[in-house]
Amino acid sequence: MKLIIAANWKMNKTAAETAAFCREISRDQKHFEGVDVLICPPFTALSSAAEALAGSVIKLGAQNMYWEAEGAFTGEISAGMLIDSGVEYVILGHSERRHLMGEKDEEVGMKVKAALKNKLKPIICVGETEEERKNGATEVILERQLGGALEGLDSDQATGLIIAYEPVWAIGTGKAATADDAESAGSFIVQYIREKFGPDAADHLRIQYGGSVKAENIGSFVALPSIAGALVGGASLEAASFSALIQSARKAVLH
Ligand code: PGA
Repeated sequence: MKLIIAANWKMNKTAAETAAFCREISRDQKHFEGVDVLICPPFTALSSAAEALAGSVIKLGAQNMYWEAEGAFTGEISAGMLIDSGVEYVILGHSERRHLMGEKDEEVGMKVKAALKNKLKPIICVGETEEERKNGATEVILERQLGGALEGLDSDQATGLIIAYEPVWAIGTGKAATADDAESAGSFIVQYIREKFGPDAADHLRIQYGGSVKAENIGSFVALPSIAGALVGGASLEAASFSALIQSARKAVLH
C-alpha cells in the first residue's frame, strides 16, 4: 500500500511563505518515491502553492470545503473552486472543525459526497476526545463519525478512501497515541469498511494516523498493519523537518 503523508498547515502561512516552502521541499522530491506527499495550505495560498509545485510530484490539498456548487453561502468555498485552484485532495471533518466550529457528522457526509462527485479525494478525519476514550467510547465515536461521513455511499464510491484517525487528545499536544492504540483504532476502521462496503473497499482503504506525528515517531505508525501514512500538523510547517519526516516514514516501510 502506497503511503500517503499530508501536511495540514491549519491557519498558517501567507502565499509568499507557501511558495518558498513548496520550492524548498520540491528539491527533495527524489527522496519521496513510493509516498504520496501532499501539502494542504490555507485557501488564500492554494494558487501560489499550485504554481510553485507545478511539475513536482507533490500534490495539493485543501483543509475544508462546502457541499453546494455555488450560491449565497458567504465565506464558503466549493469543490469546483478548489479544483480551479489546482487542488486534488480535501481534508474533511477535521477535529478542529468539529469541535471549534461545531461541524456535524451529517455535514461531513454532505461534504464527502460533494467531493467525490467532483472527483476530489477526501481525507476523512475521525477520532475520539480524551474523555470519550476514558469512558471506553472510542469505537462508538468512530462508528458514529464514520456512519455520518459515509452515509449514502455505495461500494464503488467507498473504494480508495483515505481516512485519518486522529485522536483529539493527541493533536498539537506532543502526546502521540501509542502504536497499540493507533492499530486498534485502525483495524476497527478497516473492519467497519469491510462490513459496510465489502473486501475491495477495505483492501484499497488507506488510513493515516494523525496527532503529534514527527520524524522521530512516524516509523512506529507507518509500520503498523492498518496504517498507511500520516496527517501532520505542527511538524509539517518547516520544509526541512517535513522532508525528514517523509524520509523516515519511507525507511520504516522499506527496510
Ligand atoms: P499535529 O496536528 O501534528 O500538530 O498534532 C495534526 C492534525 O491536526 O492534523
